[in-house]
Amino acid sequence: MRALQLTAANTFAVTSLPDPVPGPGQVLVRWQAAALNFRDVQVARGSYPNTAFPLIPGSDAAGTVEACGPGATRWKPGDRVLTQVVQGWQAGEMLPHHPRTILGGVLPGVLCERSALAEDGLVATPAHLSDQEAACLPCAGTTAWNALHGSGTTRPGDTVLVQGTGGVALWALLLARAAGARVLAITSSPAKAERLRALGAEAVHDYRADPAWDAWALAASGGAGVDHVIEVGGPGTIARSIAAVRFHGRISLIGVLTGVAGEVPTAALFRKHVCLQGIFCGPRTMTTALARAVAQHRLRPVVDRVFPLDQAAQAFAHLASGSHVGKVVIGL
Ligand SMILES: NC(=O)c1ccc[n+]([C@@H]2O[C@H](COP(=O)([O-])OP(=O)(O)OC[C@H]3O[C@@H](n4cnc5c(N)ncnc54)[C@H](OP(=O)(O)O)[C@@H]3O)[C@@H](O)[C@H]2O)c1
Repeated sequence: MRALQLTAANTFAVTSLPDPVPGPGQVLVRWQAAALNFRDVQVARGSYPNTAFPLIPGSDAAGTVEACGPGATRWKPGDRVLTQVVQGWQAGEMLPHHPRTILGGVLPGVLCERSALAEDGLVATPAHLSDQEAACLPCAGTTAWNALHGSGTTRPGDTVLVQGTGGVALWALLLARAAGARVLAITSSPAKAERLRALGAEAVHDYRADPAWDAWALAASGGAGVDHVIEVGGPGTIARSIAAVRFHGRISLIGVLTGVAGEVPTAALFRKHVCLQGIFCGPRTMTTALARAVAQHRLRPVVDRVFPLDQAAQAFAHLASGSHVGKVVIGL
């Protein structure tokens, strides 16, 4: 089978490998599409923890079951499935060993034609989605679901603020709207602001034209502040997120787009009784709940562009450029 390998930092090679054989409790899946996440860019750069080259990158893929190994009963050939990113995290709280079971960094990734995975490491694909669309669910979708419906519950009438037009932000927008929430969004250009409005954002602010988006969000929420910030920037945006959230509001800390450590105005957090929750993807129960909600609401992820496997390096560079809107997909 053909597979993408990272042989060293930012060094991509499409190689030919033997087809995997499903072992006990495993199924063999023929992937049709994979979607990239910012984490894959970090893996390719060599900056993601617990990864060593050479490796097959990628955690998010969708395809069809081809064969079942001994004792595997959950799926049958022909079933359409997508990946569970943290393979060992089935339900409940995350435990210290779960991050060691993440696809495409610690475990071999899915930017290849076939994988043999544990039958519990897959989720059924919503029937209305193409495989290119379904590949967009696992990481960004589950993470947004966890933020909105994990520890906290998003209620109709809540105001949710999303940052940018990347995979997590657009899933948060779609899911918050499906839950009856109002969405405020910030982005880097008028063209992207137009896309956000078309997807259902009620108000959009260009943070390049005016960096003081916290003041804008306060005004746009009647001075009270928003109920929930989907925080993907990290240290460069957290202070404004704290300023923009309401008393007793929630900030879901998800991303590292501006760095992995920095100053946090801690006193402002407790003075407002803000709940700051870290989110790291989610268990299979959440990916399953996400897939059910996507089917029920006929949601479709935003696919920015589809690259062939031979142009995987360009796909990674495109995601890293930040010029995309939604998900960058690779056909397999
Ligand atoms: N914790 C987890 O489990 C988890 C899961 C998935 C992703 N993540 C992290 O979450 C972050 C987003 O991931 P993603 O896959 O959605 O990334 P992505 O698709 O690459 O999205 C990046 C987008 O974020 C926006 N952005 C960049 N800097 C910004 C800033 N300073 N303020 C506001 N918006 C900014 C830009 O959109 P505009 O041009 O529209 O502003 C950019 O295109 C990454 O750091 C990723 O590692 C974490």
